[in-house]
Amino acid sequence: MDSPVVLGIESSCDETGAGLVRRGRLLGHAVASSMDEHARYGGVVPEIAARAHVHAIRPVIQRALEEAGLRMADIGAVAVSTGPGLSGALQVGLAGAKGLAYALDVPLFGVHHLAGHVAADTLAHGPLPNPCMVLIVSGGHTSLLLVRDLARDPITHLGDTLDDAAGECFDKVARAFGLPYPGGPAIDRAARLGDPRAVPFPRPLPSSYDFSFSGLKTAAARWAEGHAGRALPVADGAASLQEAVADVLTSKAVAACVEHDVDTLVVVGGVAANSRVRSLAEARCRTAGITLRMPPLGLCTDNGAMIAAVGDLLIRAGTKPAPLDLSIDPSAPLEYAALHPVATAPAGAA
Ligand code: KG4
Ligand code: ZN
Repeated sequence: MDSPVVLGIESSCDETGAGLVRRGRLLGHAVASSMDEHARYGGVVPEIAARAHVHAIRPVIQRALEEAGLRMADIGAVAVSTGPGLSGALQVGLAGAKGLAYALDVPLFGVHHLAGHVAADTLAHGPLPNPCMVLIVSGGHTSLLLVRDLARDPITHLGDTLDDAAGECFDKVARAFGLPYPGGPAIDRAARLGDPRAVPFPRPLPSSYDFSFSGLKTAAARWAEGHAGRALPVADGAASLQEAVADVLTSKAVAACVEHDVDTLVVVGGVAANSRVRSLAEARCRTAGITLRMPPLGLCTDNGAMIAAVGDLLIRAGTKPAPLDLSIDPSAPLEYAALHPVATAPAGAA
């Protein structure tokens, strides 16, 4: 059977994304962000995010279709991120996805947002090897995962964050440094002129695959407080924080690859856009003989193409679609890529 064009919809946080994927190929995608509306509050305000999705969802889908040179009637399946995320924000995307699936009479798939981040890389670099090691570093999650067949197999968590996620650490420390929201890109920019060895920030949990960034966040905030009344050397603080985060993330990811004899590391999520995380991962993987894969910057942060990519993989694995009473799951654990009961054909049958 010919693979359908899959529309992916993403609305779990402050980005409204729509993407179109067919047989692993990205046909077009568009993203609208309500980031500027949250900036003066220093973080995402859930109600503002939900309202912004309501306004953005139709034009974003239209822009994705235009970029792909397709019409609404060409959509053969709809995939939507149903969790984890902000509940009001997720509801908007799910309502839009259900409406379209019903109106077009096409199947609907509920997708785990983080599986979307993993699948994003396939749009740039082709199918993932089985197995591969995946480091997810986003605003809300930091996980080290052993991924086999993303569409069929359960995902093994080797490590997760015990407290703050890496992106959260960047965002909160940026605030303490007087940098704008979102903090990750601001720290990345400020760090360019700084000395990464200027401040000896801690490297938490060195002998575990779990992560903890809350102590590092506090150390950085204390360091900033210690300059009260004096000029804060922001560039040095930013470079040193970024070095500590990149060091912890990449050393654990490479150690996990070596221990589990996995030769491919995939680094995904918003923090994979960080220049030092990227360069240190490249250097350490090269030394260890590990193939490193990272999505291009535009596919690292939240987007609809990554959700469409999961939908496309699920369809090609013979996954049963979701019922139209599918609901959101704001704190969904990452076990399977699909977020609804599935029945798949055995591998090789599709
Ligand atoms: O994956 P994502 O777009 O949304 C979530 O699912 O959370 O990740 C957003 C996170 C934010 O914490 C943001 O500060 C961080 O990714 N981020 C960065 C960079 N770009 C985005 N962190 C460090 N350096 C960057 N260049
Ligand atoms: Zn995300």
